[in-house]
Amino acid sequence: MNTYSNSEASVKREFWKEAVVYQIYPRSFKDSDGDGVGDIQGIIEKLDYLKELGVDVIWLSPVYKSPNDDNGYDISDYEDIMDEFGTMHDWEQLLAGLHERGIKLMMDLVVNHTSDEHPWFIESKNNPDGEYGDYYIWRDAHSDGSLPNNWESFFSGNVWEYSEERGQYYLHLFSKKQPDLNWENPKVRQAVYKMMKFWLDKGVDGFRMDVINLISKVEGLPSNGTEEIADGSMYYVDGPRIHEFLREMNEEVLSNYDMMTVGEMPGVTVEEAKKYTAEERKELQMIFQFEHMRVDAGEGGKWDIVPWTLPQLKEVMHKWQIGLADKGWNSLYLNNHDQPRMVSRFGHDGEYRIPSAKLLGTLLHTLKGTPYIYQGEELGMTNVAFDTIDQYKDIESLNMYVERVTEKKADPDQVLSMIQRRGRDNARTPVQWDATENAGFTNGTPWIGVNPNYTQINAEQQLDDADSVFRYYQKLIALRKQYPILTYGDYELLLPDHEQLYMYTRTLGEDTWLIVHNFSTEPTDFDLSSYTGDQQATLILSNYPEENADLAHLRPYESKIYAYN
Ligand code: GLC
Repeated sequence: MNTYSNSEASVKREFWKEAVVYQIYPRSFKDSDGDGVGDIQGIIEKLDYLKELGVDVIWLSPVYKSPNDDNGYDISDYEDIMDEFGTMHDWEQLLAGLHERGIKLMMDLVVNHTSDEHPWFIESKNNPDGEYGDYYIWRDAHSDGSLPNNWESFFSGNVWEYSEERGQYYLHLFSKKQPDLNWENPKVRQAVYKMMKFWLDKGVDGFRMDVINLISKVEGLPSNGTEEIADGSMYYVDGPRIHEFLREMNEEVLSNYDMMTVGEMPGVTVEEAKKYTAEERKELQMIFQFEHMRVDAGEGGKWDIVPWTLPQLKEVMHKWQIGLADKGWNSLYLNNHDQPRMVSRFGHDGEYRIPSAKLLGTLLHTLKGTPYIYQGEELGMTNVAFDTIDQYKDIESLNMYVERVTEKKADPDQVLSMIQRRGRDNARTPVQWDATENAGFTNGTPWIGVNPNYTQINAEQQLDDADSVFRYYQKLIALRKQYPILTYGDYELLLPDHEQLYMYTRTLGEDTWLIVHNFSTEPTDFDLSSYTGDQQATLILSNYPEENADLAHLRPYESKIYAYN
């Protein structure tokens, strides 16, 4: 069958809608040679583990040559492999090993910026009139000596860095070692398309496109107001030529291959997302939106941590479920290499770690969209709280710390506590493979500390335990394969304002499934028959090992999936 009919429309079956994607952050996945840094041979050692989990696609965070100012998101050669990770031959072996197991490979495409060590940038700064002179965004200071504009960098400070060689400033939305490419220049676009074809012709199955909705900047790069430093995102998020650029990329590259695409899009709205992902517009298949990552952030943004509530989370997720119900497609994630661990953020990383990790997994696999699992999530890995700032490695956290503590004289303990809760290194501690030293990640000294809870939380132990988070994820993934309702069924939210229960239905043809989660450390009243009426309900899956005898309540962090028709 190539289509499914639901109440709205006949939906075309697509591999990428039915797939479950697993993200690997290579630096922290598995080290094979004892240098303390994860590598490609390390991933190859774990291919059977991934196969056993049942995932269909690997999204590999960048493995290209890089000076690692931002762990590979600063690329100095797009067509070669980072020395610490291995060689092109290792990469080819990885691709073959994945394909032998029926798993696809999606590479990270980082083309908003390169490294300042990329030959394009070196040429650009040394030779303004040459071939690469216009590859980056160069500006003079204003006549009064002030910076070209007042935009703030994602990694603290302003977005401008002066080049002595060229006598001009270049724009960097991220670190000063990540100069933004000038997408207005058709030569830049062609160079990117050529590089994409290089990888596609080597057999990759898709791209995850890094901050791809930031590549088009408003002409003139205007300042936002008159403050010395301010958010400039209105001048580059979903910028004026973004759809034109993506359609060009689609026409020149994407449409010529059978492949997957997902665009990472900070600040994207539902309206724009529809445009990016509507099939007939020929841009991308799906996007990562960030709105649900802001339910626990206040006015001050990412580091302004406030409590979140379940109705708020439901409201955001609902908006996206409904917004892309008929046009476009959602990607579903609750953590990745840039976010804290989901079980620490949206679940409970103490007593209820196991049920809450399973509950969040159930949510991700039963909403409408393509689920993305981040390495270690399938083990219920948690945030780490390092005691001192020098144990942290992430440039975003370290720059923020220096700015607040050194320059603005903030209380160091308070800033450290923000990093412990919100920092990206929470996701970057090594994958916990077993209970031996360094969690079996490396025989050497790991580049970042291992979470001390590895003796309790590790893959070896979970593979031996039928009730582990790993074994439960396996069931969730298998369920999506068995039941098209989870991919194609219509979604409807129930009880939007309920403070503890998150409940919705999925409907395909004659079948309805009811999914209910108790986001609470307390038992919560739940009367199934008030939803199913006299219809016969069958329990498809629940996240507690034994059946709940008391049908009037859900236990703490209990999730249940019922089918009825
Ligand atoms: C994306 C990546 C993040 C990186 C940034 C700059 O948000 O996911 O890790 O720091 O882009 O490339």
